[in-house]
Amino acid sequence: MNCFVTHLESALDATRLPADRPQTLHKDRPLWVRYDLESAGQALARSELARRPASMWRYRELLPYAQSDAVVSLGETMTPLVACPRLGPHFGLSDLWVKDESRLPTGSFKSRGLAMAVTMARQFGIQRVAIPTAGNAGGAMAAYAARAGIEAFVFMPDDTPTINQYECQLAGAKTFLVPGLITDCGKIVRQGQQRMGWFDMSTLKEPYRIEGKKTMGLELAEQFDWHLPDVILYPTGGGTGLIGMWKAFAELEQMGWLADAKRPRMVAVQSDGCAPIVRAFERGERFAEPFLGAATVASGIRVPAAVGDFMILDAVRASGGRALAVSESRIREWMELGARSEGLAICPETAACIGALEQLTREGWIKPAERVVIFNTGAAQKYPEAMACELPRIADPAKIDWDRIAAGVST
Ligand SMILES: Cc1ncc(COP(=O)(O)O)c(C=O)c1O
Repeated sequence: MNCFVTHLESALDATRLPADRPQTLHKDRPLWVRYDLESAGQALARSELARRPASMWRYRELLPYAQSDAVVSLGETMTPLVACPRLGPHFGLSDLWVKDESRLPTGSFKSRGLAMAVTMARQFGIQRVAIPTAGNAGGAMAAYAARAGIEAFVFMPDDTPTINQYECQLAGAKTFLVPGLITDCGKIVRQGQQRMGWFDMSTLKEPYRIEGKKTMGLELAEQFDWHLPDVILYPTGGGTGLIGMWKAFAELEQMGWLADAKRPRMVAVQSDGCAPIVRAFERGERFAEPFLGAATVASGIRVPAAVGDFMILDAVRASGGRALAVSESRIREWMELGARSEGLAICPETAACIGALEQLTREGWIKPAERVVIFNTGAAQKYPEAMACELPRIADPAKIDWDRIAAGVST
């Protein structure tokens, strides 16, 4: 199998670095993986894809690994694009879709990035990895590290959803709760590097998670027959997903695979409880100030400072998109709207995107006939705390009041 990676490139100043060894940041900022796209396009015909298994690895010419037997996989299926015939019209839209990433192993889109990063770690002979996480990335890394036989350390805020805590421990990762936020966890991983000799798998601190996330954009393009949608709404924390998709579209364009010149307007959605990217966007800045007092039930987007802030903001601006904060207090309501209108178990992060849809359609920024895609980045079932509710009870099964049953209240 051929690998078409040519080099790594600093996202800040385009310095070239070799791709034949593990790399982290350059001048404290992330690296892009660059490919010989012309040769990749010659090696792979677009029409060939349909004959390959329906997984992220079908785009292997656009991915960084060198041998197919190096892949660390748990069966990363292509995720469905689910039409929304009720949620769309609720907001006056005729062409709304949810790309449901909750179907991936470990129940979130983090599987794509971590499958790729752990594959590369194993290819480089790395035997110990560590990650600071808002939750789902830790769960995914723990699972793929277990699969690869690599020792894993996970550091998460002490109020991370319990399922994330348990899934890491279950998969054998040495998992620690940390007072504070993901940025405090990141400091611990940095501090321990020398003494513990682990490889830092933090968001964007190694170059390959983006490449895994990029497959969301490749898949979306293929599923829509190479016509990209008008608008993509994406819950944004560290930003790898949004940056990765934007990179996918650029590469497809360069290869001449896109059916038209149009690229989607990218909407980076945050909660008003943690909105550093939105604040920088509104101020016209390229780098974001850390967001003090970050608090949101949407734990995946509780990221007060992102090392790839400028990459997110560049992509959003280049796309003609927006960065938007929605009301933290309504996240539960939007989760229910998604689940009740379409049966989709959307995570709190994606619920924020429904809030953004409400605002953008009301403002007329999204037009009724535009094709809009929301990414459901994780399964609601991973958030028992956010889903918690009081259910009505039957006190005595021998004395049931059926009118009360019909009304859905205790009897
Ligand atoms: C469910 C969910 N959605 C969105 C995000 C944010 O992802 P990104 O780092 O790509 O911005 C996360 C990150 O933890 C997440 O777990």
